[in-house]
Amino acid sequence: MGAGIAQVAARAGFAVVMHDVNEEFLARGIKAIDKSLQRDVDKQRLEPGEKDAIIARIKTTTDTTPLREAFIVVEAATEDLAVKTEIFKSLDGIVSAGAILASNTSSISITKLGSVTQRAERVIGMHFMNPVPVMKLVEIIRGAATSDRTYEEVRSLTERLGKIPLECHDSPGFVSNRVLMPMINEAIFTLYEGVASRESIDGIMKLGMNHPMGPLALADFIGLDVCLAIMNVLHDGFGDSKYRPCPLLKRYVDAGWLGKKSGRGFYEY
Ligand code: CAA
Repeated sequence: MGAGIAQVAARAGFAVVMHDVNEEFLARGIKAIDKSLQRDVDKQRLEPGEKDAIIARIKTTTDTTPLREAFIVVEAATEDLAVKTEIFKSLDGIVSAGAILASNTSSISITKLGSVTQRAERVIGMHFMNPVPVMKLVEIIRGAATSDRTYEEVRSLTERLGKIPLECHDSPGFVSNRVLMPMINEAIFTLYEGVASRESIDGIMKLGMNHPMGPLALADFIGLDVCLAIMNVLHDGFGDSKYRPCPLLKRYVDAGWLGKKSGRGFYEY
């Protein structure tokens, strides 16, 4: 998702620094951006020269020094509280005093991430949807200490990125995943209990509810490890058994069947 966010920011004219832990991940990100923009070139919605200019606006680095110049950093690391906490602590000591620290987390508390920094009022959730270049929504999450000024700046930035900001307060899973993930989890239960085949479950939801993808295909697309992490956040956060992750979801993650990215999930890729 980090690559998708870099792509929309560069396309909107911003100078972007894409940071990752190694060169291989950065190269993969640039390749994904190239492929995504090429779709638009092929459909004659983008000039080849514009595509090159967009990519040229993205600098890649494994060094954190260039982040000092940023007015906003959007973190898009693994959906793991310990990993994100470390990143926010470290970013707080790197970026300039007024810079905003945003997280693309799908469910982790923005209030908790803010509390490990000295700038909780400048910490906010900026939750993009996959695939980032296509999906219009950015769910904007205000932590307990997020200031109105930070919210306004991020709302206006989101619009400059060509996206639609919708606001919510910090609560487990926010709105998007509090509603989406129990539906996906329930679809996995229907497969687990043998109520229907994967094709029937997805077909019923696609054709019956007019969803662009069935819930099992969508789970594969999101990543089954991410789905499990989100269910765990809901389960721990609300302490309500209705959010227990389906054992089949846990089994697939244990097996390393993480969906599209690993070549196998509920479907084979
Ligand atoms: N980059 C750029 N463009 C892309 C793209 C990408 N990675 N993927 C698809 N597109 C474009 C295509 O070029 C095409 O554009 P046009 O119609 O303008 O020509 C359009 O998107 C549709 O693509 P396709 O025809 O190839 O395929 P499709 O019609 O099956 O759509 C899809 C693909 C957009 C992914 C669609 O299936 C969809 O909307 N799925 C649901 C996605 C969704 O629910 N996302 C949210 C997931 S939850 C999340 O992200 C948050 C979380 O916290 C878990």
